[in-house]
Amino acid sequence: MPIPIIAHGLQEGISAIPHAWSVIRIAPWFILLAALKYYFGGARNTSERLMASKVVMVTGGTSGIGACVARELAARQAQVVLLTKQHPSDGFLAEYIDDLRRETKNPFIYAEQVDLASLHSVREFATKWIDNVPPRRLDAVILCGGVAEPASARGQTQDGIDDEWQLNYLSNFHLLSILSPALRVQPAHRDVRVVFATCSSYIGAKFDLETVKRDEKDSAKSKDQGPAARLSVRPKGIYAVSKFALMTFAHAFQRHLNAYERPDSLPPCTRVLIVDPGLTRTPGTRRWLTGGSLWGLLLYLLTWPFWWLVLKSPSQGAQSILYAAMEEKYARGEGGWFIKECREVDCARRDVLDEDVQKRLWEFSEKQIEEAEKEGAVKRTLAKKEKQAEEEKKTRQETSSAKTQTAGSRRSRRNK
Ligand SMILES: NC(=O)c1ccc[n+]([C@@H]2O[C@H](COP(=O)([O-])OP(=O)(O)OC[C@H]3O[C@@H](n4cnc5c(N)ncnc54)[C@H](OP(=O)(O)O)[C@@H]3O)[C@@H](O)[C@H]2O)c1
Repeated sequence: MPIPIIAHGLQEGISAIPHAWSVIRIAPWFILLAALKYYFGGARNTSERLMASKVVMVTGGTSGIGACVARELAARQAQVVLLTKQHPSDGFLAEYIDDLRRETKNPFIYAEQVDLASLHSVREFATKWIDNVPPRRLDAVILCGGVAEPASARGQTQDGIDDEWQLNYLSNFHLLSILSPALRVQPAHRDVRVVFATCSSYIGAKFDLETVKRDEKDSAKSKDQGPAARLSVRPKGIYAVSKFALMTFAHAFQRHLNAYERPDSLPPCTRVLIVDPGLTRTPGTRRWLTGGSLWGLLLYLLTWPFWWLVLKSPSQGAQSILYAAMEEKYARGEGGWFIKECREVDCARRDVLDEDVQKRLWEFSEKQIEEAEKEGAVKRTLAKKEKQAEEEKKTRQETSSAKTQTAGSRRSRRNK
């Protein structure tokens, strides 16, 4: 069809083709739009690795970038363990997993409840995993779970810690600290990878542990208001600080794994990779852009073509993470690579490699977890006692009302 039209145009002149000048005028804009869309879409992963039967843990695997990573790995027949906020018995989650199994023709997709907003939940899962005898196979841990809260939704977790700090950093620290023996115990020939999802905001982070401590004080003030209490003051830039801390910990964790002397004297087989997926159109980004308000949502919808153009789709955002999980060359070496747009790049902040910073952060995190867990344990015991007391009171009331009823019942009166 286009060939006869072009031939006609060449013979009779362009004006002979209806709307030809309009098309010529519009075409460069379409080409520019397509070029921009392609550019903002970022690099595509072309690396592959045999994933069948490999066991991969994914946090944040139910939405956004993490969901695409989980789907791609499941499609390659990996055994995917989704660490989710909800219990596996949750109706929506069960349906989601059923769909994923059907779509990817992979029955080996499971969910385990790991609420990153609860240090207790993280501990419960991780200790259950490492207590398994014989040790369970583990080929990769992909950490995509997290939050980027708009300023209006300042909050704290049930542990009384800033939610961005805990979900983006502290819970990952907690999870990997407990899972560390499960990673170290893998056979030396196994290529095990831990992939951390970071964000370029780390570059501007003002890393000061006092920032997080200040937040603790604020949490303490609002502790009596319950877990949903809102923080009156959120430390400035805590999201960036949490990502900076995550990257610093990633390097420290690699050093911790490398320092382990295996009983078979073979070199360590677990490598850490840090990935910046780039700006992506996910539920998390949408919430952040809209500021969590209806007006924000309206503005977002009105400007949607712009976001469609400049932000990656979740599937495009997943590419660098898939590259980190599957590129063959990362099966060897010391680990601690930083990946962006499916290639290795230098980290913009050299202080994430500073051993002193790593040590201080590690000690601080351990202390923060210990304190929060102690408080959490006391709260749980008190809540349990309260519940028991209430149940006992209820039973006593029921028994006494049953007795009174029997005494005044029609049958008892008739019997008199
Ligand atoms: N999107 C971007 O532009 C961008 C840019 C740079 C870096 N990143 C990083 O990439 C990662 C994924 O980002 P995303 O935009 O895909 O995030 P997202 O759409 O907000 O998804 C976050 C995931 O974390 C899970 N999650 C939230 N709270 C949780 C909790 N308490 N316990 C367990 N899981 C919880 C969510 O589960 P539910 O589905 O149950 O809510 C969801 O699956 C994040 O680490 C983010 O910082 C993203």
